[in-house]
Amino acid sequence: MQAETYNYKVVRQFAIMTVIWGIVGMLVGVIVAAQLAFPDLTHGIPWLSYGRLRPLHTNAVIFAFGGSALFATSYYVVQRTCQTRLFSDKLAAFTFWGWTAIIVLAAITLPLGITTSKEYAELEWPIDLLITVVWVSYAIVFFGTIAKRRVKHIYVANWFYGAFILTIALLHVVNSVEIPVTLTKSYSFYPGAIDAMVQWWYGHNAVGFFLTAGFLGMMYYFVPKQAGRPVYSYRLSVVHFWALISTYMWAGPHHLHYTALPDWTQTMGMVFSLILLAPSWGGMINGIMTLSGAWHKLRTDPILKFLIVSLSFYGMSTFEGPMMSIKTVNALSHYTDWTVGHVHSGALGWVAMVSIGSLYYLIPRLFGRESMFSTKLVELHFWIATIGVVLYIAAMWIAGVMQGLMWRAVNADGTLTYSFIESVERTYPFYYVRLLGGLLFLTGMLIMAYNTWKTVSDSNAVDDTVPATA
Ligand code: HEM
Ligand code: HEM
Repeated sequence: MQAETYNYKVVRQFAIMTVIWGIVGMLVGVIVAAQLAFPDLTHGIPWLSYGRLRPLHTNAVIFAFGGSALFATSYYVVQRTCQTRLFSDKLAAFTFWGWTAIIVLAAITLPLGITTSKEYAELEWPIDLLITVVWVSYAIVFFGTIAKRRVKHIYVANWFYGAFILTIALLHVVNSVEIPVTLTKSYSFYPGAIDAMVQWWYGHNAVGFFLTAGFLGMMYYFVPKQAGRPVYSYRLSVVHFWALISTYMWAGPHHLHYTALPDWTQTMGMVFSLILLAPSWGGMINGIMTLSGAWHKLRTDPILKFLIVSLSFYGMSTFEGPMMSIKTVNALSHYTDWTVGHVHSGALGWVAMVSIGSLYYLIPRLFGRESMFSTKLVELHFWIATIGVVLYIAAMWIAGVMQGLMWRAVNADGTLTYSFIESVERTYPFYYVRLLGGLLFLTGMLIMAYNTWKTVSDSNAVDDTVPATA
């Protein structure tokens, strides 16, 4: 009888695509950053205009890069921790090809200007339907694997992945209720302020569950593995889980301060955002403290550096977010580049760094190698990426606070001290610095692609055997 193996094929496919989509999405990010620094860059070509490329960037980095990293790691982690093969190979393969088709459709329709115009939910209704089918298949594969597990316990990483999968299904279905008028155009089912409320309930929980809960699942598996230590406090991880998922749901209205939304909803959003600091930091501390007794490894292990620095950025952005949700602070930060700085300290510092660290752990194991082709290149990637993020977010913070202060400055007679265009002019130097930061981060990804290519090219794909004693 042949021993059962894990299904690594689909993990390999998603892992390699994570690197490729990372490069594509970040390249588009660099292009839009360059357009802000040099506004005439792609002058006259509609499908290269800023308004069309920006959603292409956000969709590519969040759903193609981040999504592929989540598929790859969740399929790996659920098999390893449940000690069983994926529930269905065919359905898992369908999620890979279906997700890839969605990304390709996004890459075609967004530059053509086909959009619902809802942020992070821009794709039109036929693609929305495809997303629903693929996502339900993903849920069946994931939860089916949990159901057929050969160990009693469900490891905490799976709780986070599970919450991410269920919540995204709910958010996507509710926010995408729309009335199609043609194949490429639909209108939201919800009217006015309700539409805005539903959209930012979706938008914020996309941050909370796509960009946070899923990646926390990654963190809870790969940090202990790479550190060679058990999770600092398993009890804290369970408290962290329930506190985080029950708080995130209510924080969405902080995106709509001082709007037509009822005032009490704005205040509720603010209060829940402040509460959110506690579970977020609980998770960060739990991750970082997992290194207790193994701190020395940080000196020599660049993969661990990626993972631990990602947690530091997670802590930073989840401190900053609650502060920005305070209405008086938001009055300054909203509409400015401070928001963009906050976004990228979470997106580059946390999401991208934790994914990169996890992939460096994963790729050699999927291809029967002891380690990546070059650890020196991993180290180089780490430093280039870290300098890139710091340049990006520091530039945006300074620019953002400057813009907010310039817009509210008034003369003794009550007239505005600065015109809007003056604030734009003063922002240019920061846009150049951000562009440099983005270029550095992208360079890091290219180094990763080279290192991955060398690791994979003369090696054999291997599927580990499921332990017989499980
Ligand atoms: C090389 C790396 C990157 C560069 C150069 C870059 C650049 C940019 C630029 C120029 C914008 C538009 C800002 C504006 O409208 O003023 C933007 C928006 C955005 N990017 Fe990136 N980005 C990068 C990586 C990422 C990654 C990895 C993620 C997510 C995982 C991400 C998520 C976002 C989001 C969510 C927005 C919208 C922000 C908002 O609406 O406030 N970016 N990015
Ligand atoms: C405790 C956790 C967090 C809280 C309370 C929080 C709060 C906020 C606030 C108040 C804003 C500004 C809203 C506005 O003025 O329009 C914002 C924007 C944003 N945050 Fe966070 N944040 C948190 C963590 C994160 C993390 C970890 C990420 C990314 C991984 C992230 C991604 C974003 C994005 C993408 C936006 C821009 C949305 C848009 O306007 O397009 N946040 N957040």
